Amino acid sequence: MNDNLHQLRCFGCGDRIAGSDARPDFRCAQCGDLFEVEYAGWSLRQGTNRPNPGALKWLWRERRCSSEALDQSGVWRFRELLPILENYGNAVTLREGNTPLYALTRAARSLGIDQLFAKHQGMNPTGSFKDTGMTAALSVAKERGFEWVACASTGNTSAAMAAYAARAGLRSLVLIPDGKIAWGKLAQAMDYGAVTCQLKTDFDGCVKVLAEIVRHEPIYLLNSVNPYRLEGQKTPAMEIAEALEWSVPDHLIVPGGNLANSSALGKGFRELKELGLVARMPRISVIQAEGANPLVRSFANRHGSELEPVEAHTRASAIRIGNPASWRKAVRVIQDTDGWCLDVTETEIAIAKAELGAEGLGCEPASAVTLAGLKKLRADEKVSAGETVVLLLTGHTLKDADYTIDFHRRTLLKEQEIAGHEAEIDGLRRNAFAVEANPTAVLAAMRGNAG
Ligand code: F0G
Repeated sequence: MNDNLHQLRCFGCGDRIAGSDARPDFRCAQCGDLFEVEYAGWSLRQGTNRPNPGALKWLWRERRCSSEALDQSGVWRFRELLPILENYGNAVTLREGNTPLYALTRAARSLGIDQLFAKHQGMNPTGSFKDTGMTAALSVAKERGFEWVACASTGNTSAAMAAYAARAGLRSLVLIPDGKIAWGKLAQAMDYGAVTCQLKTDFDGCVKVLAEIVRHEPIYLLNSVNPYRLEGQKTPAMEIAEALEWSVPDHLIVPGGNLANSSALGKGFRELKELGLVARMPRISVIQAEGANPLVRSFANRHGSELEPVEAHTRASAIRIGNPASWRKAVRVIQDTDGWCLDVTETEIAIAKAELGAEGLGCEPASAVTLAGLKKLRADEKVSAGETVVLLLTGHTLKDADYTIDFHRRTLLKEQEIAGHEAEIDGLRRNAFAVEANPTAVLAAMRGNAG
């Protein structure tokens, strides 16, 4: 298992190419579809050629006690499952991964589910799940000698890329939609020294401009069309299985934007199963915001066979994406695992985010779609009480503090969005009070609002 024998396989036409032969836009020269990293013969390995699952599980656990940077990374700890580098000395790591799997006891109780967990990817070094993908793909960029890396982003990819590029001594170029990303994320790109361009377009427009640029300039593209990103982003599958003593949850619920993360996690669980490390795959469901739901529409209108881009509108700016690049991969994951694809309203997202917050787990609005989706699935009896469910929380609450403050000040949602949910929302709101600077006034405020 120490062989760097990966190749890239086109997801559309099945064409196989060497990793170093990929075009700068990572599109297949034959059919234009995306590639997937493939490790020849893993599923066919038999006898002594097959990795010993027990030995791997032991090794990965041992590495948690190691003082080596590579072992301390929750991505490279599993490096036998992502042999994409010639030389691990090129790995650029901020000790990403190894994120907590929290029990959500209150939400479980109110939903009548026995086992509900949140895998909090917002606890990564730059505060989002993008770090796991970035350590993988940026290390490849470094190994291949690039000086510049670039991405179009709704904010988190750019924050992660800028940080990892800075660590590696590479320059980074960020294209973001003007005025449409959360401040925390923009601040990160600036802090980590990226050249940040705010374009007067949306995320999908930024993607188009960047595709044009990388075709002509020696700049390494780090959007999730880059298949190495998904190799890093598949590792939470290993962490979740490990945390559950190598059983898998019944159901994993993931937010859907550009649809790479759901694809990556599906790949992770598929490979764990092929290699005999787990017995089955979880059901994987993808939740989108109602105003940015091209995949939901694709399932509703065309059984996932075609996707029509939409103009995306949602306050969950991370998933404000109308033309998701990895939609075919996500369709396969949902279909292979009997998952669901549904959307949730702005009100449902805001309430779910506040409920997670009230359990001590802050996250981005884009992450809260998972709990909002679970509530719907449970109401429709698509999730049973005995199932073990994991919600994938993708980003940290501090990324988008404005959203949270607006919710608690009652300035986030419009009156018509609040209608019918007043009691629920008021029960969750915790606005700050202006109080006289004396103990009596503070205690009165505390007692008056203890409920
Ligand atoms: N949640 C957060 C917090 C995100 O930042 C993103 C994507 C998603 C969910 C959706 O994941 O695209 O793999 O389906 N953010 C990207 C960015 C697009 O540029 O940061 P996906």
